[in-house]
Formats: sequence, C-alpha cells, structure tokens
Amino acid sequence: ATKRKYLIAGNWKMNKTAPDGVELIKGILAEIGTQTEVGVAICPPFTALESAAKALSEANNIQLGAQNMHPEPDGAYTGEISASMLRTFYVSYVILGHSERRQYFGETDAFINQKVLASLENNLKPILCVGETIEQREAGQTLAVIEEQVKGGLAGVDKKHAESIVVAYEPVWAIGTGKTATPEMAQEVHAAIRKMLADVLGAEAADKIRLLYGGSMKPANAAELLAEKDIDGGLIGGAALEAKSFAKLVEAAA
Ligand code: G3P
Repeated sequence: ATKRKYLIAGNWKMNKTAPDGVELIKGILAEIGTQTEVGVAICPPFTALESAAKALSEANNIQLGAQNMHPEPDGAYTGEISASMLRTFYVSYVILGHSERRQYFGETDAFINQKVLASLENNLKPILCVGETIEQREAGQTLAVIEEQVKGGLAGVDKKHAESIVVAYEPVWAIGTGKTATPEMAQEVHAAIRKMLADVLGAEAADKIRLLYGGSMKPANAAELLAEKDIDGGLIGGAALEAKSFAKLVEAAA
C-alpha cells in the first residue's frame, strides 16, 4: 500500500479579513516552524488570498487553497471566480461541494463534478466534500448518500489525477456542532469511500487518494481519528481559526 502523506487543511469559511488572515498565518508559521512531514493547507476567503500568498511566499510548508470556484474559464458569471484567477495567487487546492454550499447555495453533484473536472484541468487539487445529514444517517442511508456524492462528484475523472484528488468526509451533523464522529464511525465511512473510489478509478488510484475527516476535529480528538487506517488528515473549520490549535492538529498528524 502507498504511504499517503497526511494533509491538515484549514477551512476558514467566511472568517478573517485580509489583515487578520496575515496575522493568523504569522502565528501558524511561528508554531509549526519548518516541519514538512505533514502537508498543511489553509483556505482563506477569496479576498484574503493575495495577502495570504504574500505572507506565505517565504514558507514552503503551507499551501494555499480556495473555498470554491466556478467551472467556466471566464464569462458572464457575476460574483464568481475562475480556476485561472485562483492560480495567479499560487492557490494549490480548492474545496468543492462543501455541505454549506450544497445546503445554502443549491449545489448539485452534477455542478460540483464540472468544478472538479475544471480544477484538475487547471492544476488545482480538488478537495471534494461529501457527507450525510443526521436524518439520512438515522434512516440508514449514509453509504448510499456518500456513494452518490463520490461517484457523482468524480464522474469522468481520469485516474492519472489520483495523487491530486482529496476527498473530505464531513458528516453534516458534526460540522460546527462539537459532535465528532467516533473514530470507528469515521473509519467505516472512509473505508467505504476508498472502495467506491476503487470501483471507479481502480484500486491503485484509490490507494493514492487522500481521505480527510472533517467535523469538529480538534486537538483533543485528532490523534485517535488520524490513527485510523483510511483517515489521511483533516479538514478543519473552527479549530483552524486559531494558530495554536491548528498547529496542534498538524502535530497530531506527524
Ligand atoms: O470544512 C471544515 C468543516 O466544515 C468542519 O468545521 O468547525 O466543525 O471543524 P468544524
């Protein structure tokens, strides 16, 4: 089996102005020093990307991510941002299909799939988010929902991109609620996702794809989640907004 490099990614959501973001980055750099064992990414809002790129220009151990993008290269899409616009700020990753976008902005698997394909064409690494609601879990639909999201989101993707693809399992009921999936619950879904990926892209590609857990991950619960075989890192909201707690998560992955 491939040794997958862990990835700890901070999703800042709609938090931090550009100057506040720079402060946070300085704090994170001071905490994590020069470590390169764990992959680290931060995903500020669009308006903080340029200053974040500058603040990271001397650091080679934190990569930049965006939280969304539009699949078209350019055109009449008021309020939207394209892949090439992100690339000019040295963005490496892009979060796609976050449950908040599915829930509040009506994003469908088909639309998310267009974004995934466009991101890969433009050398951006997609972090495809999937996850069930509490109603779906209680109705025993978790794996069926996830399968639709994984296969729908990755339709038409070439397996040559395996190393660039990240899938984040974020149970919706665990996001920002303080309720975390137990390591066993998370591992069960991660193992199932790996199998779904093998169905579509083949076992070798599936083995290379990093699977992150997201949903109230924090220093107190990270180590046990990250110890699970198919959990290759975390996508972190709240705990990524503070330098010390984010650095502790990086440490937990080392
Ligand atoms: O994308 C990360 C996320 O949705 C988890 O948020 O605040 O529960 O860590 P949080």
